[in-house]
Amino acid sequence: MKGKILVTGGTGYIGSHTVVELQAAGYEVVIIDNLSNSNKEVLDGIEKISGIRPVFVEADCTDMAALTKLFDENPGINGIINFAASKAVGESVQKPLLYYRNNLVTLVNLLELMPKYGTKGIVFSSSCTVYGEPDVNPVDETAPIKKATSPYGNTKQISEEIISDYITSGAPIKSILLRYFNPVGAHPSAEIGELPNGVPQNLIPFLTQTAIGIRKELSVFGNDYNTPDGSCIRDFINVVDLAKAHVKALERMLEDKSDEKLEVFNLGTGVGLSVLELINAFETATGVKVPHKIVGRREGDIEKVWANPDRANNVLGWKATTSIEDTMRSAWNWQLRLRERGIM
Ligand code: UD1
Repeated sequence: MKGKILVTGGTGYIGSHTVVELQAAGYEVVIIDNLSNSNKEVLDGIEKISGIRPVFVEADCTDMAALTKLFDENPGINGIINFAASKAVGESVQKPLLYYRNNLVTLVNLLELMPKYGTKGIVFSSSCTVYGEPDVNPVDETAPIKKATSPYGNTKQISEEIISDYITSGAPIKSILLRYFNPVGAHPSAEIGELPNGVPQNLIPFLTQTAIGIRKELSVFGNDYNTPDGSCIRDFINVVDLAKAHVKALERMLEDKSDEKLEVFNLGTGVGLSVLELINAFETATGVKVPHKIVGRREGDIEKVWANPDRANNVLGWKATTSIEDTMRSAWNWQLRLRERGIM
């Protein structure tokens, strides 16, 4: 075993894919999740892929007593990957305190426990949302942080600052902040994927639910942006590629491949794709049509943002390699699997 890793939010979308990659790399995984946006069956999916059932603790990371108990009962946790967070932009505007409590108290609790239990490093799930509407694309890590447009976005910015301040104070820990662009797709086995609650707010789950007939039509939010086809541009990154970057980040910290105590990496493909181009890629890859119509802009949307992933490529030694067609096929196969299982 290479070491023991605590994955908070490990039954969630990106968390579950990362658990599988950690296991494949030889790490022992302990998951903590309150199942607020996932379910226990995800553990079966993980086990089917890797042959290993991770230790699972059903608890909330804002509960310091529960977290302390976890550290006591699972001695020797070397690193943490912190996915446990609320992530719906719109909901965060309605319920800001829920977002500040969940996302910030979780992080503070984890940071407080790390030195007490000799845990060396923490990988933090951040987002390209910290760049707001960037002045130039592609965006590298030196781009200015813009004022957050939602409480959700603000929790990501504040979390980055909390980690930075703690390390500056001399805390004996290391951290890597990973700024994700738009994670999409599912594991190629279709054993795990994204399980949206209710009506999906994000593009791909809404698209695949429309393709399978659960939704009548996909609304494309705006075709009057300053982009070649008028729809917004994003950097859609395959979730398995993204998961693999976490393993690289963890190795870098735990094996002291860098002297830096705090580092930040953009995780994207480096290619911007418009919403209309993405629909087209899905239709080409799967042969399934997606009924869609153009509607007005969605408030708060960024016009265009895509990553400059050079630092992750050259320093972290990681690169997104999955084609958008394969990614779209994986998203579709996952949607088909959900239907097979009678879930959706
Ligand atoms: C947002 C957040 C991001 C967060 C992510 C996951 C911002 C700026 N971005 O990304 O930080 O991690 O959600 O919750 O806060 N679209 C449609 N029709 C739909 C749904 C989406 O046209 O039904 C379009 C959107 O207008 C957007 C693109 O698809 O241009 C991607 O939208 P979405 O998947 O919601 O992600 P972001 O808004 O980019």
